[in-house]
Amino acid sequence: MITENSKTIVEKAKCAGVRRIGESIFILTFETEIASRAAPGQFVMVEPAGNSLTQPLLKRPFTFYDVSADAGLIEILIEVRGEGTRLLSLIEEGDEREIIGPLGIGFPEQPEVPRDFIMVGGGVGLAPFLHVSKDLKRRFGADARIHLFAGGRSKLQVSYLTDYGPYVDNLHVATDDGSRGHMGFVTDLLRERLPDFPRNTKLYACGPHGMFKSILKIIDTAHFETWFSMEERMACGFGACFGCVVHVNQGEKERMARSCLEGPVMRAETLEI
Ligand SMILES: Cc1cc2nc3c(=O)[nH]c(=O)nc-3n(C[C@H](O)[C@H](O)[C@H](O)COP(=O)(O)OP(=O)(O)OC[C@H]3O[C@@H](n4cnc5c(N)ncnc54)[C@H](O)[C@@H]3O)c2cc1C
Ligand code: FES
Repeated sequence: MITENSKTIVEKAKCAGVRRIGESIFILTFETEIASRAAPGQFVMVEPAGNSLTQPLLKRPFTFYDVSADAGLIEILIEVRGEGTRLLSLIEEGDEREIIGPLGIGFPEQPEVPRDFIMVGGGVGLAPFLHVSKDLKRRFGADARIHLFAGGRSKLQVSYLTDYGPYVDNLHVATDDGSRGHMGFVTDLLRERLPDFPRNTKLYACGPHGMFKSILKIIDTAHFETWFSMEERMACGFGACFGCVVHVNQGEKERMARSCLEGPVMRAETLEI
């Protein structure tokens, strides 16, 4: 069903595949009309259990990991955190879930092509950057140079990075336990490499607030146009509950913004983090 006043689709979507990455991370493929409208950085709300009468949990938000508009498929990468994601981990091919999307505002369309994009992802915060990178490469080819800074707890948590291979020019990996790449924070690597980038570089990041704070300490947003994808807790995903508000500054004024409507991708310097 396509809702009346928007391009949002509400649909019972069939699961077309499950790819497991270790115990707690998995990738679900859904057959859905949403694929034809999904922009990089937008998200979907997914019903955790097939029977919402016996498992009355609110839908949970997930960004697009990959999208095939022609085939009518979307992929979402999920890490088990609590009951909703645990129930989703039990899904099998052929099962159906109600899905709403595409929702929110994703990463900005680039009218001109700056050559360099830095993308910083922490844990499943890496998820949007496959779709973002693929889309940039499809539109601009080699003119869009993508530098992915990936952070995770261990090498398992970043093992799906092989999917990004064809779309990323430079990959920098950091893990907490040192099992892959630099041992420590991904922002340590960013600090080291930042002087190599020209001023018109765009920086996109998604991950925990601590990572955003570290990025803001390192970079000058006047020189690097910086966008953060916020992963606040969301109960509805379309502006009705005010559960996802973030503080934003516009000039002298501070106000509350619903990150599901005005985001999840927002200009870093407007955010009070
Ligand atoms: C726009 C958006 C896109 C997202 N994309 C992805 C994605 O691609 N892959 C993915 O795995 N997750 C993503 N998330 C986070 C995901 O929605 C939550 O992990 C999920 O809702 C948790 O549900 P749960 O029932 O399993 O856990 P709950 O029982 O609701 O919570 C379990 C634990 O997880 C924490 N938690 C819940 N929601 C969030 C959140 N939004 N951010 C950080 N911690 C949270 C809780 O504080 C609690 O400690 C996204 C969130 C948003 C808002
Ligand atoms: S999640 Fe309900 S208003 Fe944003």
